Amino acid sequence: MDPQASPRSSALPTHHDRLTIALHWLTALLVAVQFLLAELWGFFPRPTHHLMVSAHMSFGLLLTALFALRLAWRLRPGHTSFDDGAGLFARAARGMHHLLYLLLGAEIVLGFLTRWTDNHPLVFFGLLIPSPFGTFSKTAGYVTDQIHDIAAWTIIVLAGAHAAAALLHHYILKDGVLRRMLPGRS
Ligand code: HEM
Ligand code: HEM
Repeated sequence: MDPQASPRSSALPTHHDRLTIALHWLTALLVAVQFLLAELWGFFPRPTHHLMVSAHMSFGLLLTALFALRLAWRLRPGHTSFDDGAGLFARAARGMHHLLYLLLGAEIVLGFLTRWTDNHPLVFFGLLIPSPFGTFSKTAGYVTDQIHDIAAWTIIVLAGAHAAAALLHHYILKDGVLRRMLPGRS
């Protein structure tokens, strides 16, 4: 019998699978770390400032790998899905999840471009990854950086609303929506 099946019905899963749960919380953690590093590095002098920018790029590449794995796992045939119906809130939740996936993907591409349009190689824990493109103008570097910044704030605001909705499910509606994304509880 499926270990994730509910005691009442063996057909209905009560939890996301373990890899989905691990990837969700690791992604959330990395996004928060990325945002905090970028918002705080301006307050630090060199060499700490420089280390924080390098850490942002290295974690950014880890986030890229995590995101690719998450997407492949999510799109595989037969992934665990829940029937929350076709009501307005269920559709809004699905729309929010799709938007978060889309923005994360875009932010990752923008992250690479932010560095390369500044005509610098990306840094992955000391390893340099040069741009496959030619030289960019100062304007291109500035515009890409601004878009990366706006996308970062958009992700944080939307993820905050998404987290608030999860807490509302848990504490007000008292259903299993948050629990199914938590490890080892039934
Ligand atoms: C969701 C994930 C991410 C968030 C929330 C985020 C957030 C930010 C923010 C807020 C800035 C500052 C922009 C400004 O002040 O103009 C920034 C800069 C930057 N980000 Fe990200 N970022 C993310 C992912 C990435 C990734 C995946 C990479 C590359 C692999 C990356 C590379 C960079 C670079 C190179 C800079 C400019 C650093 C500098 O000023 O020298 N970011 N990021
Ligand atoms: C940067 C932070 C976060 C991002 C980018 C994010 C993104 C996502 C995405 C894309 C999904 C859809 C999963 C799928 O069906 O494939 C999801 C599901 C979920 N997230 Fe988040 N999340 C974040 C933070 C949080 C936080 C802080 C909470 C709780 C307080 C939370 C609770 C949940 C829950 C309960 C689900 C499952 C919803 C369901 O089963 O229908 N997330 N998240």
